[in-house]
Amino acid sequence: MNTISTRRFLQTSALLITGLLLSACGKKTEAPAAPAASAVVASAPAAAPAKVYVVGTDAAYAPFESQNEKGEIVGFDIDVVSAIAKKAGIEVKFVNTPWEGIFKTLDQGDRDFLVSAVTITDERKQSMDFSNPYFDAQQLIAVKATSKISKFDDLKKLKVGVQTGTTGDEVVSKLQGKNSTNIKRFESTPLALKELEAGGVDAVVADNGVVINYVTNNAGSKFKTVADKAFAPEQYGLPVKKGNADLLGKLNKGLADIKADGTYDQIYAKYFGAAPAAAGAPASAASK
Ligand code: ARG
Repeated sequence: MNTISTRRFLQTSALLITGLLLSACGKKTEAPAAPAASAVVASAPAAAPAKVYVVGTDAAYAPFESQNEKGEIVGFDIDVVSAIAKKAGIEVKFVNTPWEGIFKTLDQGDRDFLVSAVTITDERKQSMDFSNPYFDAQQLIAVKATSKISKFDDLKKLKVGVQTGTTGDEVVSKLQGKNSTNIKRFESTPLALKELEAGGVDAVVADNGVVINYVTNNAGSKFKTVADKAFAPEQYGLPVKKGNADLLGKLNKGLADIKADGTYDQIYAKYFGAAPAAAGAPASAASK
């Protein structure tokens, strides 16, 4: 064997071994009690445990996904996906996943699908597939209650906080230019809002539901919200790896089922206190 084919051989065997180890690990997570060795030896397909779908979510986005005091991931998105899974007869496990790099986890196979208040955009549709939309959203501006900012255009020359790589980042990048040094990008939306409170930025642009939730629950921060018709309507969907039609079918069916039987409306009312039919329902929660 020459050097190249030797290396090839080594690479291939390494891949094979990794593959075997991975599949062994895969079985282990399904049945944690079984010792690893027997999981590898067991060859009968009859014993195949039900697949657990791993769902990635950036759980710093209340009321859609956040961690409670016990560290459990909770929220509107979690309830919706749990209900969908029940109807679809699939098992799901939510795994907290940082927003930056969250889409890559689909291609890498680390996550089977995502629920993270992800807006369906044409650009994203090129690299992943989305379920049907499950929630309407829009960008909303958060400013100090004393601020004179009254519309999006006022932010042209001001310091604006956004969560990196979100649609909020996109709209502000469009307004100021992608490389504007006045755009302050944060790892999470709550961090951007804390910076607004600290006075490091003049405004934050993010999804309405999250901004309203924060402003309502942090009265001490003394924020107000500024809406602008210039923001295009957005819709959240569940991203799956491009081409995973099987899973997409299950999710869309489950979503249709929970919409049809009232489960979706119940979950919606639990978090937003109104029927989804009322346009801008989340926004009205702010005025109460
Ligand atoms: N809807 C926005 C987007 O898709 C923001 C979503 C951020 N979600 C989160 N869990 N941090 O870009």
